[in-house]
Amino acid sequence: MKKSAALGMGAFGLDSLFNEIHAADFQNAEKFWRDDSETNDNYWGTIQDAYTASKSEIIILNNGGVSPSPIVVQQALEKYNKQAAQGPSYYMWRIMDKGREPLRQRLATLGGCDPEEIAINRNATEALNTVIFGLPLQKGDEVIGTKFDYPNMMNAWRQRQLRDGIVYKQLSFEFPIENDEQIVKAYEDAITPQTKIIHITHIVNWIGQIMPVKKISQMAHKKGIEVIVDGAHSFALLDFKIPDLECDYFGTSLHKFLSAPVGSGMMWIKKDKIAKIWPLVCNQEPTSADIRKFETLGTRSFCIEQAIGEAINFQEGIGTKRKQERIHYLKKYWAERAKEIPGVKIHTSLKPEYSCAIAGVSVEGLKPTELDSKLFSDFKIHTVGISYESVQCVRVTPHVYTKISDLDKLVDALEKIAKKV
Ligand SMILES: Cc1ncc(COP(=O)(O)O)c(C=O)c1O
Repeated sequence: MKKSAALGMGAFGLDSLFNEIHAADFQNAEKFWRDDSETNDNYWGTIQDAYTASKSEIIILNNGGVSPSPIVVQQALEKYNKQAAQGPSYYMWRIMDKGREPLRQRLATLGGCDPEEIAINRNATEALNTVIFGLPLQKGDEVIGTKFDYPNMMNAWRQRQLRDGIVYKQLSFEFPIENDEQIVKAYEDAITPQTKIIHITHIVNWIGQIMPVKKISQMAHKKGIEVIVDGAHSFALLDFKIPDLECDYFGTSLHKFLSAPVGSGMMWIKKDKIAKIWPLVCNQEPTSADIRKFETLGTRSFCIEQAIGEAINFQEGIGTKRKQERIHYLKKYWAERAKEIPGVKIHTSLKPEYSCAIAGVSVEGLKPTELDSKLFSDFKIHTVGISYESVQCVRVTPHVYTKISDLDKLVDALEKIAKKV
């Protein structure tokens, strides 16, 4: 019985794995902290050492796709998996299940919101598809998104268009844009009396543009329009509280910048909107105002879910503001050097208001896929080539564990490639 209670507290007890593995090192590293410490390698070295990925034979610069977990999260997952293997129906459904409410609380603290507005699920696709398919829209109702939203969400809207006769409009932009009002106006100009929903991708995955979500939400609400935010790349990277965005719905994956295990996600719905959203997966009270109605997802890994707890401990050990500043610094570090190389172009704003981790780069004369392949085959640098609409570049995304020496290798590689073209 005592053991069950301890497991229920799991990641959030005094005996958390984070306390066992990292707390002392993190405390030690604090000695090196100053206000301008985004450049402080004594501090960040401790963070890098907490990830096995920092010692990988390949340099991972596609953390926008999915991020590795720090050692503490890997070990937590292993611990829970071993436990579940002893008898999943007992350990998952009677023991780990008790960890969900403390986890909801801590996710809410991280998101700066009410735990009764948080549902835990498997990824941003599941979270946002729940909202998209759950909204009681009628034939002729209009939704405004952009061509730069994530394909899984664009496809969900297209499916609603086909099935229910809603009208799905997609704006287009030429990024980078360093002017919020221009973006807000583009959404505003597309509004008609039939517009019911605006769908915004907080950080555009293709190119890293940060969208002015709060300003768009304020404009939309004045016209009675609800706002859905895809926060797949912003949660646990940008230092914001979900209610500050003034949106109505927010979905994110936790396996990106939170570094939780792959297959973990979260949905936030403003309290007074929960009742009207139909669950994507059935629930016995589909019109209930209890956010838990979105968690009847069938048999799944409660081990993954519980290991999110240690990712939160790790995140709080650093602090989101610090993390945002460091990752922005890392992006600027390589991109500012790279843009001085003849033939190399940076496709993303380097200002902190308009981008954080992600930046696009191209080398004159090479297609994005060619540059991506060369970076990997000749330099063991893993990125992703993006050739989509007006975005033609390689996407580079560092994370907190990225070493400056690895970014030097990236700049050096770009220089060598550009010279040879
Ligand atoms: C902006 C954006 N939204 C949603 C997703 C989907 O995330 P997941 O595959 O974890 O559901 C991604 C994935 O890269 C993304 O970039």
